[in-house]
Amino acid sequence: MPQSTRFGRSVAAMSAVGVLSLMSCSPDSPLELSTRPLPDCGAAKGSYESFGAAFFQNYCIRCHSVTLESDLERLDAPQGIDFNTLQMAREFSRRIRLRAGELGDMPPQILLGPRPTEAERLQLVDWIDCGMLSDDELSGG
Ligand code: HEC
Repeated sequence: MPQSTRFGRSVAAMSAVGVLSLMSCSPDSPLELSTRPLPDCGAAKGSYESFGAAFFQNYCIRCHSVTLESDLERLDAPQGIDFNTLQMAREFSRRIRLRAGELGDMPPQILLGPRPTEAERLQLVDWIDCGMLSDDELSGG
């Protein structure tokens, strides 16, 4: 019994180490968001015009655009998941927050091309959490 308990513990310890080293070797770089304070949305978090549009343009649109038709052109980005307008991006806000913000595996790490910085990913999360506002909405219009 003590023998098997010790065995069980070391297996548990080994798999914990395994999980940790997998995480550190993983190409993904998740953000630690659970300890992050809720954004102060009263302060300027950027708008679609000052932040969101350029973010999607720089990092997403070369695959997720209505102008790209074939899977080849889209580099396999799923059909119908496009971010050309604020309204389109809003449809996928939860998935965008998860993949491009929290997990950081969009754009896919395996493909070359520009990637958002950590600061930009955090700003994306804040902008989404604050309602993905446009200039008009920010100014109360
Ligand atoms: C180089 C091409 C490429 C770029 C650039 C790219 N994606 Fe993707 N995207 C894909 C592919 C391929 C898939 C399908 C495979 C997958 O889900 O991992 C996908 C799937 C998705 C999905 C749907 C899957 C889900 O989790 O619901 C979302 C949302 C997404 N991408 C968001 C983004 C965002 C936001 C950006 C920009 C920061 C981005 N992608 C940039 C290729 C790309």
